[in-house]
Amino acid sequence: MQKLMPGYENVSPLGVMNFLSEVEFDYPKAISFASGRPTESFFDLDAWLGAIGVFQKHDAELHGYDTSASARRLAQYGRTGGLINAIVAAQVANDDGLTCTPEQIVITNGCQEAMALCLQTLCCHPGDVILARNPTYIGVTGAARLAGVELAPVDAAADGSLAGTLRRTVAALHARGKRVRGLYLIPEFDNPTGAVISVPDREAILVFCAERNIVILEDSTYGMFRFEGDARPALATLDTSGTVIYLGTYSKTLCPSVRVGSAIVPKTLFGDAAASREFLASMTERKSFLTVNTSQFNQALVGGVLLAEGCSLRRLVRPALEFYRRNRDALMERLAVTLGTSPAGIRWNHPQGGFFLSVELPFRFEACDMVRCASEYDVIVMPMSFFSLDDSQANRVRLAFSNLSVEQVGAGIERFAAYIHDRLAQETVYGSFTSSVN
Ligand SMILES: Cc1ncc(COP(=O)(O)O)c(C=O)c1O
Repeated sequence: MQKLMPGYENVSPLGVMNFLSEVEFDYPKAISFASGRPTESFFDLDAWLGAIGVFQKHDAELHGYDTSASARRLAQYGRTGGLINAIVAAQVANDDGLTCTPEQIVITNGCQEAMALCLQTLCCHPGDVILARNPTYIGVTGAARLAGVELAPVDAAADGSLAGTLRRTVAALHARGKRVRGLYLIPEFDNPTGAVISVPDREAILVFCAERNIVILEDSTYGMFRFEGDARPALATLDTSGTVIYLGTYSKTLCPSVRVGSAIVPKTLFGDAAASREFLASMTERKSFLTVNTSQFNQALVGGVLLAEGCSLRRLVRPALEFYRRNRDALMERLAVTLGTSPAGIRWNHPQGGFFLSVELPFRFEACDMVRCASEYDVIVMPMSFFSLDDSQANRVRLAFSNLSVEQVGAGIERFAAYIHDRLAQETVYGSFTSSVN
């Protein structure tokens, strides 16, 4: 039964998550490529809960307490900036090659809070703008909306590079009296496209932003999930001028319910140590009135797991990495078999990691089409327009392959391909590529 079609022609950025959960709820038989949740197959909650004890012992030794004093400390309100900063500093040094001090880190309630705090701290004046690659992660669009921050799109050029369009976008915004304060990027395995920014493009973006005092917010959420190919250096590790704030999370490497993430602010913001201290102070002031501090139990769990793992997540993510790679392979294979000989206009990328892939279609695919797929073909895919800051993404969809089995991936793609073939056949009969409700 088709329930949601009328009234869902337009889904607002703040309504997307509700819309998605309604569709998934209404069509429980549908295979969903919609959500970028990590697989639950490797959640090891018993071991991770046990790691709280590892942290407690470490904390007690560090401060000369007994373990019961350490336990009481954990149960109490905590320092706004965080409890496990030194351990996180060691982990990003080991896993991402990023050198920082514990004082440069604010531990947050997931990457989402880190992002929201940075947007608010950067944009305090009318006309302040944040740029984001278009399309972009819904979480940053929502956080900007709630904070009243203008988010402006930067579109990738045909070769996928951003530096050229970035230059033009900034010039156009300046001409309109806007002040560009930041650039939000997911350089490794972007959500929603799966794209990776090339090293020369990273270098050009860094030089440009350093010249213009534009802070780069580098979201590293999927950085640990490379299946193959050479790792690219994080922007923060290439940064010599204090341009990059590095945003991290343990939601995908451990599990989302820990709600632990971080923002790492450079020692000097554009060469200014006082500006960096001020930024950190402003972030933690905001946090102290928003969430007070990040749960110390949850920090202790993450800290304990990291200590037990020698402050590196590489070993722990290996089975999940293999799981995601197998799903990516199944997706590529089924797409090639079911759509490889279809008419021009259907294309997809081949991500070397991460959770997402994007497919380009020769017709518009909107919210109502998502509902039609769910109700008639038992498959859910996300219109890329949900992630878009303008109308340029109407012919694309995002497929998330992180929380399905290989069998579900195969069956889901068969169903989506059937929808596409039927839609193309309709086009042959009726003669125009329009949305299916038009
Ligand atoms: C790119 C990106 N950044 C941030 C987040 C939010 O992460 P967290 O659970 O740490 O708030 C997500 C979640 O899917 C994401 O895809």
